[in-house]
Amino acid sequence: MSVSSITRILALLLATGTAAAAQEHALHAAVPSAGPAMSEGKTFMESGGAALYAQVCAACHQAGGEGAVGAAAYPALRHNQKLASAGYPVTVMLYGLRGMPPLGRMMSDTQVAEVVNYVRTHFDNPYGDAVAPEDVKAARP
Ligand code: HEC
Repeated sequence: MSVSSITRILALLLATGTAAAAQEHALHAAVPSAGPAMSEGKTFMESGGAALYAQVCAACHQAGGEGAVGAAAYPALRHNQKLASAGYPVTVMLYGLRGMPPLGRMMSDTQVAEVVNYVRTHFDNPYGDAVAPEDVKAARP
C-alpha cells in the first residue's frame, strides 16, 4: 500500500469520526477508574477562584469581567444576571457554549466550584449561594 493511500484512509477515518471514537475507547480502556476520564485531569494547577479566574478566564472575559468584542464576542461576566442560577455557569464550564470551551473538563470539581463561586460573588454579582464540589461532580457529563 502506498503512503498516499494510507494517508487517504487515515483522512477518511478521521472524517468519519472512527479514529476519534477509537481513541476515546483506548483512553477509557487505559483509565479503568470509574467516572469521566477527564475529571481527574488537573491540567490547570491554580487553586482558588481568583487565581483560576486570572489565569484561565481573564484572557477572554477580561480581568474585570467586562468581556470584549473583537475577533469574537466574549460576554461580560460583570453584572451578569444569568449567573443568578448557579447551575448555568457550572453547565457552561462543563459542556462549553459555542465559543466557550468546556474548560471545566480540565479542572477538578473543587476548581470548577471555586471559579464559579468567584465569578458569582465578584464583578457586581451578588450571588452568595455557593456551589459545592459535589454539585460539580453531579453535573459532569
Ligand atoms: C477562549 C476564550 C474563553 C475562555 C478562556 C473562557 N471563556 Fe467563558 N465564554 C467565552 C465565549 C466566547 C462565551 C460566549 C459563548 C456564546 O454565548 O456563544 C463565553 C461564555 C461564558 C459564560 C456564559 C455567559 C452568558 O452570559 O451566557 C460563562 C458563565 C463563562 N463563559 C464563564 C467562564 C469562566 C468562569 C471561565 C474561566 C474558567 C471562562 N469563561 C473562560 C470564551 C471564553
